[in-house]
Amino acid sequence: MIFDSIQQRDHEQVIFCSDKDSGLKAIIAIHDTTLGPALGGLRMWPYNNDEEALEDVLRLSHGMTYKASISGLNLGGGKAVIIGDPRSEKSEALFRSFGRFVEGIGGRYITAEDVGTSVSDMEWIRLETKFVAGIRSRGGSGDPSPFTAYGVYHGMKAACKKVFGSDSLEGKKIAVQGAGNVARYLVGHLSKEGAETIITDIYDEKVAQVVAENKNVSVVEPDEIYDVDCDVFSPAALGGSVNDNTIDRIKAKIVAGAANNQLKDELRHAQGLKERGILYVPDYVINAGGLINVYVELEGYSEARALHMTENIYNIVESIINRAEAENTLTVVASNRLAEQRVNALGKIHSRYVGETERKEF
Ligand SMILES: NC(=O)c1ccc[n+]([C@@H]2O[C@H](COP(=O)([O-])OP(=O)(O)OC[C@H]3O[C@@H](n4cnc5c(N)ncnc54)[C@H](O)[C@@H]3O)[C@@H](O)[C@H]2O)c1
Repeated sequence: MIFDSIQQRDHEQVIFCSDKDSGLKAIIAIHDTTLGPALGGLRMWPYNNDEEALEDVLRLSHGMTYKASISGLNLGGGKAVIIGDPRSEKSEALFRSFGRFVEGIGGRYITAEDVGTSVSDMEWIRLETKFVAGIRSRGGSGDPSPFTAYGVYHGMKAACKKVFGSDSLEGKKIAVQGAGNVARYLVGHLSKEGAETIITDIYDEKVAQVVAENKNVSVVEPDEIYDVDCDVFSPAALGGSVNDNTIDRIKAKIVAGAANNQLKDELRHAQGLKERGILYVPDYVINAGGLINVYVELEGYSEARALHMTENIYNIVESIINRAEAENTLTVVASNRLAEQRVNALGKIHSRYVGETERKEF
């Protein structure tokens, strides 16, 4: 049954890590390493059961292969989860124990931050393995969230250009679901450009911080965000927010946000959005800024290069929208095809033997 789940999306390897003393229960999923080592964040979440954690890590790692490929990076797709409550169950031993498992994989998987983990958790992991990014020490790039937000901002502009004829966000009404790390920086860009932002979060203190830092921000209750009369709906909380219960309530002309796996059922809900005249910007395309930033860290960090590469999300989003239009298909189908084409084409190139000095790049 576990192998059925692993083979369903063609994963290469899944590693279950257990350390009773530190309380570590983690799963590392390596989806595909055709393009390079599998890089993907470490999520810490109080999953209801092991099956839920496995399903999450398999789905997220699969998405990372597509995200790296469409962004033109030499990285494969991977992800890890720790089963536990990030608010109460973190410890140095827990993360260092996880780091030792990562070291043992020998570089096929590189970890970084995700929901529930932070730069300081990565610093603990760093004490046990070099296969970690998103650190602050030793030339690291730190928190990827500002770059994710910057990429979402540029991708959103490209979508607005297509739908409204101009990429200016001035005067646009944008509903942002979640007021966490990425949302906070995103609202900063939107506010600076003169957009009107409507935000929500399940924690009042997160909302209060974003309101205090920006102009033109109003607040609604978490469930009211779907009913907001707006131009763009931007999911920046957890996945699955576009689903059977919410899709009819979305008033926006564009869905473009940071959250991973925004569509509960990728193809069915992408089709549903299209039928309602809503342009969907595939999540893994628009939210790649954080991954781009840690990739640049692996090359030798340059903030200018990371920003420049992140701005290119504008062009990638534009080309996917145009391609979907030309092929009369969904934007997710067009981007999945492009991502798969790159993996397949480069996989063929790498199958050719070049002698004993095979070039080794991460
Ligand atoms: N941080 C990154 O660089 C990055 C990169 C790519 C994708 N993402 C994705 O973007 C999303 C946000 O990431 P983040 O780093 O900002 O996480 P975060 O945990 O800082 O923020 C998420 C916020 O959503 C809120 N939230 C949860 N459920 C909610 C609900 N039902 N309604 C309203 N708010 C709710 C949480 O309270 C939290 O404040 C996640 O889906 C993450 O996987 C993040």
